[in-house]
Amino acid sequence: MDLTAHGVTDVFKWWLFMATDIIGELTFGDSFRMLEIGKKNQYSLDMERLISLQPYRMKYPFLVKIARYVPLPAIKDTAKAEGRLQTYAMQSVDRYKKLISQNPSNPKQTLFTKLFDEKSGMSYSDIIQEARGYIVAGSDTTAVTLTYLTYSVCRDNRVREKLVAELATIPEPVTDKSLRDLPYLNQVINETLRLYTAVPFGLPRLVPPEGAQFNGYHVPGGATVSTQAYSLHRDHAIFPDPDNFNPERWVNTTKEMKDASLPFGGGSRICLGIHLARMELRLATALFFRALPNARPSAKEDMTANDMEMQSFFLMAPQGHRCIIET
Ligand code: HEM
Repeated sequence: MDLTAHGVTDVFKWWLFMATDIIGELTFGDSFRMLEIGKKNQYSLDMERLISLQPYRMKYPFLVKIARYVPLPAIKDTAKAEGRLQTYAMQSVDRYKKLISQNPSNPKQTLFTKLFDEKSGMSYSDIIQEARGYIVAGSDTTAVTLTYLTYSVCRDNRVREKLVAELATIPEPVTDKSLRDLPYLNQVINETLRLYTAVPFGLPRLVPPEGAQFNGYHVPGGATVSTQAYSLHRDHAIFPDPDNFNPERWVNTTKEMKDASLPFGGGSRICLGIHLARMELRLATALFFRALPNARPSAKEDMTANDMEMQSFFLMAPQGHRCIIET
């Protein structure tokens, strides 16, 4: 059904297309052209399948290896999607290699340019692994965050009107520089990252062989430890009334709030794309609500709170896999 035909659209789909195109352009020098194509293709369907099976792939990698020998259709399909992800990564890297070869002394700069420098010490297969990571890490996380942001703002007139009023103060053309210090926009983004953190599961770390002292406890070497954003972000003592979407709680950000916020992880393996992600969140939110100041969750398409229940398979997503907004 063409939802745009009667003033409603699935923003989850469009945010995912946008975030995927941005990663393609910035990493491999060329967009995946999802926004132009405008509909789900094999690539996005494969992503959905692989992300929903992420916990099994992480915990039981051998299952993925044996999957191709198991004659069950669901397992076979997943193995095929896994194979295609490898192909997408290789095609993207090869496309960029071709771009470099066209102008080796001054190649188009992307997030991957330095990886191709001999000094990086990275083999072709290392670069492919890295490409797979970027394709997955950079698209769904941003799209899910933007989807919950849009939904939360659209369904609360007070928040939407306040945000729209602040955004109206920005002159054209809207640039990230003009948005970086907007107080309410940043409060709305921080509150979305708190309540709807895209990676709510434990982020694992391996304790070094000699073990470690932590908070008065000895943690044995080789143990896996993890922190977990979902509960931390709902600590009543730090975030009163934690299930409530309340951007104003970030007006006076305390050290405790900062320390308890882990939407991008922490330490040496913190999200590599944190600054890019924040820039995308600021620009996409500003451009969306300037263009559609009256957007609200659709009453026409039976959009229910149930659709937006958080469902987590390592990466979190709305369980209805859609967010229909009426303009
Ligand atoms: C709102 C958007 C995003 C969220 C919520 C998010 C969240 C995260 C989290 C929680 C981790 C794990 C960190 C840890 O273990 O401590 C991570 C890792 C990572 N993210 Fe993001 N991310 C986002 C956007 C992006 C974007 C746009 C990129 C694009 C390059 C990206 C690239 C990566 C990479 C490469 C890693 C792996 C880092 C490593 O293992 O050293 N992320 N992200």
